[in-house]
Amino acid sequence: MGTFLVTVEDARVTFPCKEDEFVMGAMLHAGKGPVRYGCCGGGCGICKMRVVSGDYEVVKPMSRAHISEAQEADGLVLTCCVKPRGDLTLGRWP
Ligand code: FES
Repeated sequence: MGTFLVTVEDARVTFPCKEDEFVMGAMLHAGKGPVRYGCCGGGCGICKMRVVSGDYEVVKPMSRAHISEAQEADGLVLTCCVKPRGDLTLGRWP
């Protein structure tokens, strides 16, 4: 089981995230980063961030009301829906 490092660019924090862990959960667990969350299920959009670099997998559906296909292609994610597949760098949204 791999563990990756997630860096939140503008908050200058880094925390570990296991490959089977949601990025938002790891951020909460570490008590780091701009932790904003609501539904934890991909529906409210409050946990939206931009993936600046790194590989990830969207494992829960992200509401199209909050992430359009174009935004998804541009690296915007709901952090409660994605798991890391390598080290990640995140930026805040907006
Ligand atoms: S916490 Fe609601 S979409 Fe992520």
